[in-house]
Amino acid sequence: MIIAANLKTNLTRKETNKYLAEVESFVSSKNITQEVLVFPAMSSLDTHDTSIIVGAQNAYATKDGAFTGEIGSVHLEEFAIKTILIGHSERRHILGETQEELAIKFNYYKDLGFKIVYCVGEPLEKRKAGKSEMMEYISSQYKGIDTEYKNLIIAYEPVWAIGTGLTPTLEDIQEIHTELKEKSTAPLLYGGSVKVTNAKDVLALKNVDGILVGSAALYGEHFCSMIEYAQELEGKEY
Ligand code: 13P
Repeated sequence: MIIAANLKTNLTRKETNKYLAEVESFVSSKNITQEVLVFPAMSSLDTHDTSIIVGAQNAYATKDGAFTGEIGSVHLEEFAIKTILIGHSERRHILGETQEELAIKFNYYKDLGFKIVYCVGEPLEKRKAGKSEMMEYISSQYKGIDTEYKNLIIAYEPVWAIGTGLTPTLEDIQEIHTELKEKSTAPLLYGGSVKVTNAKDVLALKNVDGILVGSAALYGEHFCSMIEYAQELEGKEY
């Protein structure tokens, strides 16, 4: 399974290095065979000497150039970073990235062979509008995205569940994941208020191939517990 930590705008470079060392030491001491990904803040990226996959939370669809405040692929290449998160709801809804821009970014990093964790998910009003409107909204987030890309991982993250402590029911997660698996056979993660207390139940669901964790992953110990749950579920029946 795939266990990913999105550290968002948290942990300094020094704290990130300590965090990665803690997770790495856990992973090697427990012989973890799951795929572990960590997305640190941009200024914490470095040449990380670790078996953990370190990815960027964002980058612009360019090698370099005049895009004040952005970084390009040359900056990721400097640190041998080949993994990127695209389409996170905070980038869509707070930073205003459009589907068109996301598709351009997706294609740019796809052409470079990056592993892409592509996020989709509905805001509360779309969920309240009923199943078909909600699925239609989520479907629109696949526009311009190559769902057959071999290095694609999809993360379903309902916007209203992010950082709120609210989650869909386990039945809901399983149902939506089953529908989303029809759009793409890429590994499908669930994200949105995953904690140590619910991670195992979520990971055990059919069509859930892993989790993308925000706030709870800021505690190395908690993130490691979730990695261990995934390891315990190794070989689960689908
Ligand atoms: P929380 O786990 O804090 O809800 O955040 C989820 C998320 O946005 C991961 O990308």
